[in-house]
Amino acid sequence: MEEVIKTQQLTKYYSKTKEAEPALVGVDLIVKPGELYGLVGPDGAGKTTLLRILATVMEPTSGSAHLAELNVSKQPEKIRARLGYMPQAFSLYPDLSVMENLRFFADINGVPRKRQKTRIDELLDFARLTDFTKRRSENLSGGMRKKLALACALIHEPEILLLDEPTTGVDPVSRRELWQLLTKVIHQGVTVLVSTPYMDEAERCKTVSILYRGRILITGSPNELEKQMPFRIVEVKARPRRILREVADQTEGVLSWRAVGDRLRLSVSDSSQVLPNLEESLKREGANISILREARIVMEDVFIHLVEKQEAQG
Ligand SMILES: Nc1ncnc2c1ncn2[C@@H]1O[C@H](COP(=O)(O)OP(=O)(O)O)[C@@H](O)[C@H]1O
Ligand SMILES: [Mg+2]
Repeated sequence: MEEVIKTQQLTKYYSKTKEAEPALVGVDLIVKPGELYGLVGPDGAGKTTLLRILATVMEPTSGSAHLAELNVSKQPEKIRARLGYMPQAFSLYPDLSVMENLRFFADINGVPRKRQKTRIDELLDFARLTDFTKRRSENLSGGMRKKLALACALIHEPEILLLDEPTTGVDPVSRRELWQLLTKVIHQGVTVLVSTPYMDEAERCKTVSILYRGRILITGSPNELEKQMPFRIVEVKARPRRILREVADQTEGVLSWRAVGDRLRLSVSDSSQVLPNLEESLKREGANISILREARIVMEDVFIHLVEKQEAQG
């Protein structure tokens, strides 16, 4: 099987009125076996809509979607047996304990009673929740809740896992832990499609699609996408910042810039020309330069470039 998940021209309108904006437009997606595939996009991009359709909880308006060569509209039960889905909104029962939640998900997913104990022990160990089995899920930290929800989604040993923003609203340590868990899941041979609004998390995926206003703007490995960009990035830190911004605005070859922390990231057409020009102008204006160098293009730069291009086209 070449593709575990395949969508063709997938389109979703929530409203039937003619002026309504579609939540998804002509989405073509191919996820290959054993991949960690990232669906990246801001709030409202259509991530949840796409994952809901793939999870067979909602029908598309048009187009098709297949998981393991099964059609989401025609064979939803067969798909569900092979699929783990962790929705963005909370999926656990707040007044049930960690153990009760796992048992409940094991039952509704048809895990045989004999197998349940071993599988639950495995997952408690995997999610490092062994010491918290009696705690009600409403009393877990945000990060632990997400780990429990992930364990519940994996209870029936699915071959495909759909995760909707598993790291949103989670502290940085738990975010890293969750990504480590996903790496483990991938090593077990599961195909994972994960959505995130965080561009930096996209770097962890093998393949990434950037979704924006219901459309896929680009697909590829983070490395491929970064290499395709028609600009370079120059990072500058200089004081006073007012002068730095003025120079950035006026220097030829600077396409755009944005502030990141205490420095500016400039996208430039040709760094070998822009670097000396910037240095000269900053010095002439009496600025004190502490950083001036070419920097690596990251997914955030890719995203901003594509969105600006899209908005310019209207
Ligand atoms: N149940 C719904 N009814 C009407 N519009 C919806 C519904 N769910 C989402 N939308 C709209 O569809 C678009 C995509 O939303 P969503 O899929 O939730 O995006 P994301 O998960 O990327 O934030 C948004 O414009 C949102 O307002
Ligand atoms: Mg969402």
